[in-house]
Amino acid sequence: MTGIPASIDDTLARLSEQGYVCGRDLGTVAFLSLKLGKPLFLEGEAGVGKTEIAKALAAMLGRKLIRLQCYEGLDAASAIYEWNFAAQMIAIRSAEASGGASRDELQTELFSQDYLIKRPLLQAMEPHSEGPPILLIDEVDRTDEPFEAFLLEALSDFQVTIPEIGTVKAEEPPIVVLTSNRTREVHDALKRRCLYHWVDYPAFERELAILHARVPDCAATLSKEIVSFVQALRGEDLFKNPGVAETIDWAQCLIALDAVALSPDVISETLGALLKYQDDIAKIAGSEATRILNEARQQLAQAS
Ligand SMILES: Nc1ncnc2c1ncn2[C@@H]1O[C@H](COP(=O)(O)OP(=O)(O)O)[C@@H](O)[C@H]1O
Ligand SMILES: [Mg+2]
Repeated sequence: MTGIPASIDDTLARLSEQGYVCGRDLGTVAFLSLKLGKPLFLEGEAGVGKTEIAKALAAMLGRKLIRLQCYEGLDAASAIYEWNFAAQMIAIRSAEASGGASRDELQTELFSQDYLIKRPLLQAMEPHSEGPPILLIDEVDRTDEPFEAFLLEALSDFQVTIPEIGTVKAEEPPIVVLTSNRTREVHDALKRRCLYHWVDYPAFERELAILHARVPDCAATLSKEIVSFVQALRGEDLFKNPGVAETIDWAQCLIALDAVALSPDVISETLGALLKYQDDIAKIAGSEATRILNEARQQLAQAS
């Protein structure tokens, strides 16, 4: 089954087959995005599963995933194509040596498909035998407003122009997923084209399910302690809260150390898997870790 899902439940079930565990709210926007062909705009803290859902959608639909990683200074041209400058130089040298081609012939030859390096947006507009690809425009908040304006246009026409070659229009538009870590607000105009969803940190049960899907060899008791501790840690005043990605990394570290349960020592030794700022580590290591561990255990005891 690689077609578009038939319902929200079907979407959730097929995402979960790919190891992606999410709630009905995210399942609903994902389903609608596929059904209506509208881009999905996901915003949230780092490590909450925004990029991962694009991968899961591509896998469940059997489509290619094309990723445009945004960065400061990314411009429209380099998101579409580049000329293979090195190959062009070689062609010029050999044309000079053989003295064959005229200037005009060489010009046409050098700016043809053979020397074109297709960047993600161009790749996404081209036909794919398995159906339109998933175009992941990742961390769009890292680019600037001119690039957003360009995206807005590209996403409304689904076509891109290469001056030397012409316009390439997608026969079938790609399925677009945009993500933002909200280091700045993305412009309304771009968001309005999309279905928007804020991806929050998962609640206890869901994070446990994600951990189980991603690190199945983590024992049940340890998994619960890990998730409970991370959830309590997110309530502390930290510069950067740990995401789901960190929960998973931490579980893998603990397994590698043959830990069967949390202890203040093992927590302090492995805090670098959870916290990535020295100030946060210094704040939590030691007595704070013990206090949070006790709090987490109390929570677990109350829940069971
Ligand atoms: N809902 C989820 N289901 C399964 N795995 C998840 C989920 N959310 C996060 N993860 C895991 O956390 C990692 C980081 O998620 P990612 O999508 O890269 O975060 P970000 O929101 O920063 O893009 C992924 O590689 C995946 O293993
Ligand atoms: Mg990401």
